[in-house]
Parts: sequence; structure tokens; C-alpha cells
Amino acid sequence: MAREQGKGVTEEKIRVFEARREALKTMGGEKMIAKQHELGKLTARERLALFYDEGTFQEVQLFVKHRSPLFGLDKKQINADGVIVGFGKVNGRTVFAAAQDFTSAGGSLGEMHAKKIWKVMDMAMDARKPFVSMNDSGGARIQEGVPALDGYGGIFYRNTIGSGYIPQITAIMGPTAGGAVYSPALTDWVFMVKKSSYMYITGPDVIKAVIGEEVTHDDLGGAVAHATKSGVCHFATENDEDCINKVKMLLSYLPDSCHSPLPIASCADSPDRECPELDKIIPDRATRGYDMKQVVMAVADNNEIFEPHELWAKNILVAFIRIMGRPVGVIANNPKFGAGVLDTTASDKASRFIRFCDAFNIPLLTFSDVPGYMPGTAQEWAGIISHGAKLLHAYSEATVPKITVVTRKDYGGAYIGMCSKNLGADYVMAWPSAEIAVMGAEGACNIIYRREINEAADPAARRAELVAAYEEQFNNPYFAASMGIIEEIIAPRETRKRVAVLLDALKDKEQVRPPRKHNNIPL
Ligand code: HXC
Repeated sequence: MAREQGKGVTEEKIRVFEARREALKTMGGEKMIAKQHELGKLTARERLALFYDEGTFQEVQLFVKHRSPLFGLDKKQINADGVIVGFGKVNGRTVFAAAQDFTSAGGSLGEMHAKKIWKVMDMAMDARKPFVSMNDSGGARIQEGVPALDGYGGIFYRNTIGSGYIPQITAIMGPTAGGAVYSPALTDWVFMVKKSSYMYITGPDVIKAVIGEEVTHDDLGGAVAHATKSGVCHFATENDEDCINKVKMLLSYLPDSCHSPLPIASCADSPDRECPELDKIIPDRATRGYDMKQVVMAVADNNEIFEPHELWAKNILVAFIRIMGRPVGVIANNPKFGAGVLDTTASDKASRFIRFCDAFNIPLLTFSDVPGYMPGTAQEWAGIISHGAKLLHAYSEATVPKITVVTRKDYGGAYIGMCSKNLGADYVMAWPSAEIAVMGAEGACNIIYRREINEAADPAARRAELVAAYEEQFNNPYFAASMGIIEEIIAPRETRKRVAVLLDALKDKEQVRPPRKHNNIPL
């Protein structure tokens, strides 16, 4: 029996459906796309095409429309409501994403735009897969009013509920202003594109009106400003393509969720490889710096490291590496910058990294060469006490394998702060150059022998004798080793070998903390 015209899936219906679908996919149209390209930016669709393995992207809710009649919006068609959401494969692994499209109403976020983002965030959490947000938006859709603000509220809520459950990454690829900056800040990682992206709570015009300060968009909230000054940006990238490649690189180190196994890469680098260059890396003079990045690279598979916050708080470095193909989070004082001292920003940088790694079961490898916490009013009044306490808290609460290597100085409170034995390190090793003490020998003798030195016939000679005796006692790894405070003294060249063996031995480590609602890190 012939089917009634208009019922069932007719060719005409398919044609209409396909035409509507294709029309929606054009987003803001050719003129706006050309403007986007002139600014050196890709469109949301182009970004997603670069991000996902070819042909794997599955778009969700393309047909969603805004429903606000206010301020002329009833006459305004906003394709896909300015945001493309969906999922697909990135190097063969499922990842969910939302990409705002500046060509459609400036990527502004209204009620339905937000609900599309909620949908994929919910899917990502249910599916236990990472969520990536590509932001390029004029912010809350001004015509819609409070439903737009509420849309952000739902995103912030989901960012928070998903925190520590699935990895969340934001790529800032255009404007991000006002409260819109808080979703990125709630995610684990923020990437920015130099020159074409910026983030700030209040822009240059408001700043000028309120406090009379003059500043450009880029100086205020560009990628370089946030990568070097505020630390809001973990990765400042050159352009959209570089940004997307680096997001993919980061994902390669991360599990799908806190319940998923770590991604293991194939590894041709031998666990037995010695690092003879490390035997020569510690300078003769104790006050001279060296680049701890060289140590981390020497130990890593294929000498490859992936370093967030490379330009911020450089006195400590944090990095992802692999050892025998398994991801490892490295925290290392870097004596090349500010003697590797611990200050407020270094403490914050390391603490957040440690907590991320612990949440996602990535073992921690710490390299310690630290003269102490930074003295002075500036640091005390900036709250070095509570910032430093974050580091103690983060290391102590972490239940992943924790291995510490002391390369040189390891003094005072900072010794404890860099994952000492009683902060829960599973295994502490020291190079023969290690100096584990309450403080440097000179400073120590000036305090404990002040009267004796002052009253000596030759104070300089007596001080030298006392300093030598103190160094002999404490400024070496042997006293700590004799007390069982470090497990082993190793030659620097053996570091990779020893770390590889330990990570393998500890890979099934399990530690259970007392049940509670949540702990209370000193924020
Ligand atoms: C509605 C917006 C919009 C917005 C841009 N557009 N931002 N529509 N709401 N927030 C529209 C423009 O009207 C224009 O539409 C199109 O997007 C392109 O914008 P242009 O201004 O032509 O682009 P450009 O010159 O490149 O300037 C980009 C911009 C500017 C600097 C971002 O658009 C701008 O200042 N936008 C407003 C920024 C802002 O103050 N947002 C509110 C922040 S407060 P047509 O139809 O002409 O193409 C906020 C609160 C969030 O977001 C709170 C969360 C808790």
C-alpha cells in the first residue's frame, strides 16, 4: 500500500532536514567568519575539527534555540545558540567539549546556550570522561538578563561537582570577561592564546573610571599577563592550533576520570638508563644555582617533560613526565631562580599541582633543593604561613606513591614542605651532595655559638672551625640516613633507575584516610 504523502521518512523530509542542519552549521555566516579569521582566530567548528580525530565528532543539540523575546531577540536567529557541544575521540579516547562561536552573537551565553553546555558536562560526568571548554565569548547575553547569569551558575556548579572526578580543561581563545572568568578558574587547567585572548573581572574602561588606572586589554588580562603575573593561565600558547595541540598533549598524560587507569604510553627508553650528566650538575659553590629542569629531563622517558606554569613562580617547577610510559607528576625546587626558595606563589603552584595529581592517581616525584621559606615583611604579610601550609596539607593528604630525591640543600621547614619522610613520602633518596639540616652551617653557628665566637682570640678562625664541625655533622646525607629519615643515598647517575624501580613497586599503593565530609586545606 502506497504511503500517504507527508508521513514517514520521505526524501523531501530528509532533504529539508539536511538543509536545516547545514544552515545551522554555518553559524554566524561568511562575513562573521571572515572577521574571525582576520583576527587570527579559528571558528569553533574549525577548532573542533583540529581537536578531534577525523570524523569522530558527534554534535549534540545543534537545533537548540534561545527562547528570549527581550530587546529584539525574538527577531534574532542565533545558529546553534552560539555554542557547539558534543563528544568524539582525541587520539582514540573519548572527550566531551563545548566550543563557543564568536561568529554567532559574539558567542554570548544565554539560557539555552548554557543548557547545551550543562548537557555535555553532565554527559562527561556520567560517562566519566574529560571535559574541554573552548571559550570565545562576549559574556552573558545582555538582552536575556538574569537567565544568562543563572546559566553561568549552572556551569560553575558542574565545574565544582566534577572537580577531582573528571579532568576539566579550559582553552581561552577569545574574550572572557566578568564572572565568565570563574568557570575557567574552577577547571583544572587554563590555556590561553597569545594576543587573541584575554580574561579579566573588569575591563580597562571600568578600571579607568573607578581607579583611574590606564591599561590595555592585553597587559591587563592577556595570555602573557596571566601566565607570568597572576598564574591564572597554565599554558600561554602561540595561536589556536598550538593551543589545541597542547590541550591534546596534556590529555595524553591524564586518565579519563579518577576511577580510570592511567594512560600508559609505549616506551623505548630503558628503566636502567643511567644519567651520567647528573653526576656533574651540582656546582662546586653551594651558593651557585643550576637548572633543575635538566635533572627532571634527564630522568624522564625520552627526556620529555610537559610543564604547566612554566613562566610563573619559576623557583619551583611542576611538570608531567613519563617513567616507563607511566605518567608521573614532578615537583622540584629550581635553584636557577631565586635559589629555589619557597614563597607564597611557589607554594600555591605546587599545592594545586599535587592535589590534581593525587585526585587523578598520578604518582608524585619530588626533587628538593631548597634554602627555606622566603623571609621578609612582603612574604609574611602576603601570608607565607598559610600559603606554605597548603603545601604541607597537599603533600600530607596525597595517597599516591610519593618519592623524594634530595639533590642538595634541604633546610628547615622547607625540608619538611618538600615531601619529607614524615609528610608521608614512601621513599626518600639523597644524592651525596645533600645537606639536610635545620639551617645552613654559617647561620646555625652564628646563633648557637655567638658568645663563643665573639669571645674567641681569633673569632674568624673559631667560626670556621665550628662551621666545619656543623657541616660535618649535618650538611651531608649520612646523619639523616643513619636515623632512617632517608631510605637511601644514591649516585645522581642512578636516579632514573631507582625511581623507575620504586614507581613499579609502589604502583598498587593504597592508603585509606579516615572518613569525613571533606578536609579543610588552608586556602
Ligand atoms: C549580547 C553580544 C555580547 C553580549 C557581544 N555581542 N557580546 N551580544 N551579549 N555580552 C554581540 C555584539 O552585539 C555583536 O552582535 C557581536 O556579538 C559581535 O560583537 P562586536 O562587539 O561586534 O565584536 P568586537 O568588536 O570584536 O568586540 C568584542 C567585545 C564586545 C569586546 C567582547 O562585543 C563587548 O564588549 N561585548 C560585551 C562584553 C561584556 O561586557 N559582557 C558582559 C560581561 S558581564 P551583532 O549582532 O552586531 O553581530 C558577564 C557577567 C557574567 O558576562 C557573570 C557570570 C557570573
